[in-house]
This record gives sequence, structure tokens and C-alpha cells, in this order.
Amino acid sequence: MAARELYVGIMSGTSIDAVDTALVRCTRRDCELLATLEHPIAPELRGDIVAISQPGDDEIERLGPLDRKLGALFADAVLTLLAHTGYDKGDIAAVGSHGQTVRHRPPSAGNRTPFTLQIGDPNTIAELTGITTVADFRRRDIAAAGEGAPLAPGFHAAAFAHKGKSRAVVNIGGIANITLLSETRLVSGFDTGPGNTLLDQWTRRHNGLAYDRDGQWAAEGEVNTALLEQLRRHPYLARRGPRSTGKEAFNLAWLQSCLLSLPELEPRDVQATLAEFTADSIAGAIISAETAVDEVYVCGGGARNTDLMRRLYRLLAPRHLDTTAALGIDPEWVEAAAFAWLAWRTMSGLAGSSAAVTGARGARVLGAIHPAGEVPGNSAVR
Ligand SMILES: Nc1ncnc2c1ncn2[C@@H]1O[C@H](COP(=O)(O)OP(=O)(O)O)[C@@H](O)[C@H]1O
Ligand SMILES: [Mg+2]
Repeated sequence: MAARELYVGIMSGTSIDAVDTALVRCTRRDCELLATLEHPIAPELRGDIVAISQPGDDEIERLGPLDRKLGALFADAVLTLLAHTGYDKGDIAAVGSHGQTVRHRPPSAGNRTPFTLQIGDPNTIAELTGITTVADFRRRDIAAAGEGAPLAPGFHAAAFAHKGKSRAVVNIGGIANITLLSETRLVSGFDTGPGNTLLDQWTRRHNGLAYDRDGQWAAEGEVNTALLEQLRRHPYLARRGPRSTGKEAFNLAWLQSCLLSLPELEPRDVQATLAEFTADSIAGAIISAETAVDEVYVCGGGARNTDLMRRLYRLLAPRHLDTTAALGIDPEWVEAAAFAWLAWRTMSGLAGSSAAVTGARGARVLGAIHPAGEVPGNSAVR
């Protein structure tokens, strides 16, 4: 194996549950997932990320150190992964770091000057790992008038498209996004709305837990149709074309505003309704897609939520529903693998985005490259 075909992807999504890393061998022919590691995020650091993710005071003073600390955490995650595999930093062509999204204000939300911001200083990653680091993937697409998201569809197409099949790949992270594949063609991709985020936020508030394990709590409750109708009125769900969203749009403040007009509901019935709403928004996007979908494959942490998967199964019947494990990649590593793939695209001078997905003026080579290591003596500035 040519060692310089190896890339490490780092992903920490809006759930802020952990840093996922994936070691992937990428070539023009195929991608192979070689090793993975979930690296913890300390509760205090998580608290700082949650705090900076909404407007507040002293943002630059808080953002600067957090950016550096996350860079160090991501570097640590990469080094731990490599220590587990026996590969050396010199074997790795590049790291692809998504970064931690702290704000996402895309054009589809009506922002006059759209922007998106992912932190986790790539200079620090390159310095601490000694590996070339590609990062800041989304902002080039925003600059080209795109949504900056989703970026995983290209990888979904490379890994999961199949001749003779019409597939949807659904990533259920904090936010959910789908990729529509007609045979080997990438038709479109967009965020459908909430993934785990509402379920996580409501569970944290009422039970003090990070998430509703296997959706057990939601399964105990009953769906409240009045609340479900209210939730379905969220303006994001009526949008068409390239679109992306975040916790800026789907959060407890919005949920509270929907609950105002309703009589006291049992918290577990709210959880059941949030689960139904989440499944419904994903299934609705698939059912009304511009191409007929025969097979649906789920990835992201939501694939492990048995209750959510049951709801999707019911809403999407008779379509075939499974997780991406059936196609060879365990659901929890798809996004990290996608950022290894995106780093490979950038290092190869290939586009990482698709205009059909993000709505940008065109496909672009994404990200900024932060070269590894010390410069040779004769190229140093004197
Ligand atoms: N066993 C499980 N039962 C229910 N939900 C789960 C389970 N395992 C993971 N999750 C959900 O997956 C989320 C993490 O998914 P992930 O794909 O990492 O999202 P993100 O990309 O936003 O970080 C958790 O916050 C949780 O909601
Ligand atoms: Mg995660």
C-alpha cells in the first residue's frame, strides 16, 4: 500500500458529544476505512462550546482561546488514533478537520452577508501532529454563493452510490441531512431539519442526561398531534432548493414558543412528539424528493436510536431502510471518513463540493492547507 494515500478525518458535529476520527485510504478508485477512534470532549470544554454557539458578551476573548484549545484537542485525537494503529505521522498525507461549528448563517436563511464559522485552529493541529492539515472547508462554498453545507454528499456518492439503485443516505447528527443518489449520479443533498438535537436538548433539560438512549423515553410517551402540527409549521420545512440549518433554528426557545399555546404536556409525550417530528421531517424530504427513492441508508448517531429508526421505518415503507453498515461503513464513522475524503480531494486539486447540493456558482476545491513540519533550512526567511 502506498502510505501517502492515508488521510485522517476529524469530525465534531453540533451534538458536541465527542470528536470522531477516521483513518481512511483514499485513491481515485475507492476509499477504505482502516481505523477509527472516538475521543472525549471534557464537560467544561463542551460548556464553553455551547456558550459560544449563541450570541453573547466578550465573544472574541472567549473564541480565541477556545479555538486554540479545540485545535489541541483535535491534534490529541489524531495522535491517539495513530498510536492505536501503529502508523506514524509520516505515513499520513493530510488531516481533514471539519472544526466545531459555532455559527451557521447560510444564504437560504435570508442572511444578507451569509457566513459560517468552524473553530479548532488548524495551525495548532499541524504544529502538534506534524501532519499537513486541511481545514475551513465550508467558507469557500459560502464565498461562491453556496450554503456551505452539506459537504458529505460527495463522499456519500463515492462510497454508497450503486448502478441500478436509487438511494437516499441520511445522516442523523445534531441536524439531519440527506443525499439523493440516482444510480451513480449525485442528484441533490440538503439539511432536512433536526436530527438528534431537539431530542438531546429536551432530555438534557428534563433528565439531565446527554441523550435518550435508544429512544426509550420517547417510546414510552404518546405523540401529541396538536404539538406535532405546531412543530410542522417551522418555516424551514417549507423551503425548497439548496438549504441548510442549525441549532440557530431548532432549539428549546423555539420549542417553548410552540408549547405556549398548548395545555401542560407530560415531558415524555413532548419527547415522543419530538421524535415523531424528527422522523417525519426526514421521511417527508425523502418522499417528496425530485427522484423516487427505493433504498434509504442511515448514518450518524441517530442510527443507534431504535425508536427513531422504528418511526422512520413506518413512515418510509415500503422503501428499504437500513444503516450504512449494510453498505460497509459503520454509521458513526461516515462523517469523519467524509472529511478524510475531503482532505484527499483538496490535496489532489479536486472539487469537494457540488453546486447541485450547495447552490454555489460552481464546484470548488475546498479548504485551506496548513503544511506540516519545519521548513528546510534553505527556504527559511532570512
Ligand atoms: N444509543 C443511542 N440512542 C439514542 N441516541 C443515540 C445513541 N447513540 C448516539 N445517539 C445520538 O447521536 C448523537 C451523536 O451523533 P453524531 O452523529 O455524533 O452527531 P454530530 O455529528 O452532531 O456530533 C448523540 O448526541 C445522540 O443523540
Ligand atoms: Mg458527534
